[in-house]
Amino acid sequence: MNETPVTEPRGATAGAGATDRRQSVSIQLSAPTFGAAELREITAAIQDGWVTGGPRVARLTMGLRSYLGVEHLTCVSSCSAGMKLALVELGVGPGDEVLVPAVTFASCANLVVHQGAVPVLVDVDPDTGLIDLDGARDAVTERTRAAFVVHLHGRPLDMDAVAAFTADTGVPVIEDAAHAIGARWRGRMIGSFGNPTAFSFHASKNMTTVDGGALVSPSRDAADRAGLLSRQGMSRPSWDRHEDEAPGAYDIVAPGFKFAMHDVAAALGIHQLKALDERTERRLQLARLYDDALADVDVRVAPPAPDHARHAMHVYAVRIPGGEARRNRVARELSRAGIGTSVHFRSLHLHTYYAESLGLEPDDLPRARAYSDESLSLPMHPGLSDGDVEQVVEALRGALGG
Ligand SMILES: Cc1ncc(COP(=O)(O)O)c(C=O)c1O
Repeated sequence: MNETPVTEPRGATAGAGATDRRQSVSIQLSAPTFGAAELREITAAIQDGWVTGGPRVARLTMGLRSYLGVEHLTCVSSCSAGMKLALVELGVGPGDEVLVPAVTFASCANLVVHQGAVPVLVDVDPDTGLIDLDGARDAVTERTRAAFVVHLHGRPLDMDAVAAFTADTGVPVIEDAAHAIGARWRGRMIGSFGNPTAFSFHASKNMTTVDGGALVSPSRDAADRAGLLSRQGMSRPSWDRHEDEAPGAYDIVAPGFKFAMHDVAAALGIHQLKALDERTERRLQLARLYDDALADVDVRVAPPAPDHARHAMHVYAVRIPGGEARRNRVARELSRAGIGTSVHFRSLHLHTYYAESLGLEPDDLPRARAYSDESLSLPMHPGLSDGDVEQVVEALRGALGG
C-alpha cells in the first residue's frame, strides 16, 4: 500500500507536550500515520449512521484474526481493557500474586492491584529490558496465579522459553503485546501462541484506532466471555438486536464492563491493519539506519532480534552510559534541538506507589534500575525521513560530547 499519508507527523503521543511545545519539536518521537482510506472509512461510518460497535468492528475483527492466524479475538476499547478481561478470566483475586516485569508501562501492575491481588515485580534482561524468565521462575510461590510477559518495544520474547516457563511452573502467562502487533517468533505471529494476548491501538502504537485494542483468547468459551463482559454482560450486542422486533430484549448474565470498541475506531483500524506491514518494514529500515549511524557514537544499541524473528520496532531505544542525570541532560539537549525523546520505561519500583506499597528500594531490582536510568527512546515512526535519522544522530553525538 503506497498511499500518501494525509497526516503530517504531530506530537499526539508520548514525548510531546502541549500545543506550543509540540510546534517547537521538529522531529517527533512518534506520530500516527493516517492515509486517505482511513478518512473515507470514517466518513462512511458516520454517514451510514451506525457508529457504535457494528459491521466495521466485525470487519476489523475478521481482519485481525486472519492477520494473526488466530480463531478467537475480540476487539476492545484498549489493551488495558483486554488485559483486565484476561485477569478476570483467570480468576485472579485477593490473596493471589501476579508476576509483572519491572520495566514496563504501569497498566499490567495497576490492573493486578485492582483485582485485589499483588503484583510481584521481576527484574529484567540487562540488554533488552525484557522480563528475565529465570527470575520469574524464582519468584513463583504457591500464590502465583499468573505472569505477565511484555514484548517490550515490539521485540518478541523468546516464545520457546515462555512455553517452558509455563510447562515447568504451571503458571499461566498473559502476553502484553501492546507494542508488538506484527512481531513474529520462528515465523509465528505474536498472539498466536495459545496464551491470552492483548494488543494496543493507542495513538502512539504501530497501528491505531486512536484508542483501542484487541484480546486474543485461548478458546471459544473464553472469547465468548470476553465479548460478553466487554458489553456490560449483555447477552446480545446491540448490532444483533437493532432489527429485532424487540431490540430491548437482552439479559445481563454477568457484571461486565464498558470495554467494547466502536465502529468509528474500527474504521481507522481496518485501513491501519492493511498498511501495517509496509509501515513496520519502514520502521525496521529506520532502525538499521540508526544502528549504522550510531556505530561510532558512545551509546549502546539494543541487540538485534534473532534472524528467525521479527521485531515490530515500536520503540528504538539506546542506552546512554553514565546514569540517569547524564541521560536526562542528553534528553534536554535533544529537546532544545527540536527532537522528541522519551523513556520506555522508568522501572515500576522507582515510582512512588509501587516503591511504597511493595516496600522496594531502587537497588532491589538492579538491572531494571540500570535499564530505566540509561534508556533513551529516539524518534521512531514511519513518517521519518533518512535525513531525520541523520539529524537525530548528529544531535545525539553533540549532546554526548557536551
Ligand atoms: C507496554 C504497554 N502495555 C500496555 C499499555 C496499555 O495500552 P492501552 O493504552 O491501549 O491500554 C501500554 C500503553 O502505552 C504499553 O506501553
